[in-house]
Amino acid sequence: MGKIITIKNNKGGVGKSWLTLQLGHAFTLLEKEDGTSYKVLLLTSDSQNNILTFSGADNIKFYKTLEDFVRTGELNEIRIRENLFYVPLKNSNFSKRFREKLKISVEKLKDEYDLILIDSVPVLNIDQDFIELADKIVIPTYLDKATSEGIARLMDEVGVEKIKAIIPNRYMRSKKGDAMYNELKETLDGTGIYLTDPIKQSGIIHNLLEDGKTIWDTKSKDVEEFQVIIYQVAMELIECL
Ligand SMILES: Nc1ncnc2c1ncn2[C@@H]1O[C@H](COP(=O)(O)OP(=O)(O)OP(=O)(O)O)[C@@H](O)[C@H]1O
Ligand SMILES: [Mg+2]
Repeated sequence: MGKIITIKNNKGGVGKSWLTLQLGHAFTLLEKEDGTSYKVLLLTSDSQNNILTFSGADNIKFYKTLEDFVRTGELNEIRIRENLFYVPLKNSNFSKRFREKLKISVEKLKDEYDLILIDSVPVLNIDQDFIELADKIVIPTYLDKATSEGIARLMDEVGVEKIKAIIPNRYMRSKKGDAMYNELKETLDGTGIYLTDPIKQSGIIHNLLEDGKTIWDTKSKDVEEFQVIIYQVAMELIECL
């Protein structure tokens, strides 16, 4: 039975879509206990479908969407890497009936996929469903005051037990940022939430994105520090799921 991980932060631009793709790709490179690979599906509540661009699959013009799947029950996922699939979204506003059907439909996908990762957007009604569906939540964040306050609210909203990891991303060294990191570390102490080292705002990550590549598509030594962080998050998730 598959598990669902939702990547959430109510703040825009923190790297939710980027992280969903990197983490999803990481899982496909790991081995399950039986020696086979994880089959991973990426979904989104963002009709911009940034993951298609980030993975270099943005030349695909005609595709079926999550809405089609919910309507017909037929999944036409796009293969973006070996064992890594993506289903785009067309709209961003949904009826109550659609939302009910969506939840049932996504649950069914657990039969076919080991892991379903959901890329969210700041505030949208179906994100509520994706949070409810999630076995675990992963939060990418900035290390600033407003975003940290947002995390505290999110922890209240979804419950501490559901959050597995917080990943400071697009980090730029500053005294205030470092103080914020230490504060966050203290707050999370004893909660079971894994706080990673910060991922830098990086020119290499930017260039890879421009080329439609993930951090796992390159042999460059410069990405190793990012690979280690994402790999650790993947292992933490596998252990608790
Ligand atoms: N560590 C990083 N270094 C450099 N660029 C990054 C890094 N993380 C993300 N980016 C870039 O920052 C931008 C925002 O990332 P992304 O789109 O993943 O954020 P998001 O949280 O999904 O945003 P939105 O709320 O708009 O959906 C993108 O252009 C992405 O390429
Ligand atoms: Mg996004």
